[in-house]
Amino acid sequence: MSTAEAVNSDFNTRLAEKAQLVNGVLRQILAELGNVDERLKNALVYTLESPGKRIRSALVLWSCEVVSGRVCRNAEIAAAAIELVHTYSLVHDDLPAMDDDDLRRGRPTCHKAFDEATAILTGDALLTLAFEILAGEVDEPKMAIRLISELAEAAGPAGIITGQMADIKAEKTEGSQELLEYIHTNKTAKMFRCAAGMGAIVGGADESRFKCLCDYGLKIGLGFQIADDILDVCGQSKHIGKTAGKDAAAAKCTYPKVMGLEKSRQLEKQLADEAIALLAPFGARAEALRQLAVALLERTR
Ligand code: IPE
Ligand code: IPE
Ligand code: MG
Ligand code: MG
Ligand code: MG
Repeated sequence: MSTAEAVNSDFNTRLAEKAQLVNGVLRQILAELGNVDERLKNALVYTLESPGKRIRSALVLWSCEVVSGRVCRNAEIAAAAIELVHTYSLVHDDLPAMDDDDLRRGRPTCHKAFDEATAILTGDALLTLAFEILAGEVDEPKMAIRLISELAEAAGPAGIITGQMADIKAEKTEGSQELLEYIHTNKTAKMFRCAAGMGAIVGGADESRFKCLCDYGLKIGLGFQIADDILDVCGQSKHIGKTAGKDAAAAKCTYPKVMGLEKSRQLEKQLADEAIALLAPFGARAEALRQLAVALLERTR
């Protein structure tokens, strides 16, 4: 096994371990849901139990570990909350009025498996549930407010929503690198920034460490969306779990379209290097985050 392969296999083991933890917390949240309509509950279970990579939630947990050396219960809650918001964003992103996709995580999208109204409501439920668990289960009120505020900012009008709006408006236009950076930063990178930041908060980071981790998250988040654009061109549906070639079919404004594949790959690598450089103050403790930045360059799903 080459060194690169060994690092990748080590990373995959680390990610699988974190994904298992997050899946357990999500299952518990679903099991504790009170008076919920049966169809809605089935749709929630369907979307949350679908095999997502759990990268944002793992990032919360790793970021907490980097700062405090361990994963605390508040980190588990924050990780579940960001996964809920992320999953909502996918359910709505796939709707006919948005990207109109049939396949997600290798399965029919929520509106295909159920119907459009159920998918809209499932997204609404996932989004609100995230804030309910942060408000109800984080054990320090000031920390809960900070986490709620970070997540609301990343998911809200100055985050995902503006990114998604700009993404739709940019369809069938020529685009520019500047516009792409704006779209991808808002629709995707701010959630990665938020994940790293939430991990830092629950781990008790000081201001300067919080900022380093947030900046790291923003860089790998932008790289993550560039990789997503590249996978839409070069990946196969059976690996990516969604229909390949959709971006070109919808005339989306993407990095490969505007900059070409080669330059997109170069930029992705540059962002990973910059992200890794930001981890210097954490020394060996940040190994998982270094591996994450590298693994995202090589991902095939
Ligand atoms: C897909 O995110 C949406 C983007 C921001 C590119 P992921 O690739 O993390 O999706 P899952 O959670 O693994 O399905
Ligand atoms: C989605 O970007 C970003 C979100 C906020 C959900 P994409 O539309 O490229 O994500 P995929 O390719 O459908 O997963
Ligand atoms: Mg989209
Ligand atoms: Mg999409
Ligand atoms: Mg995409």
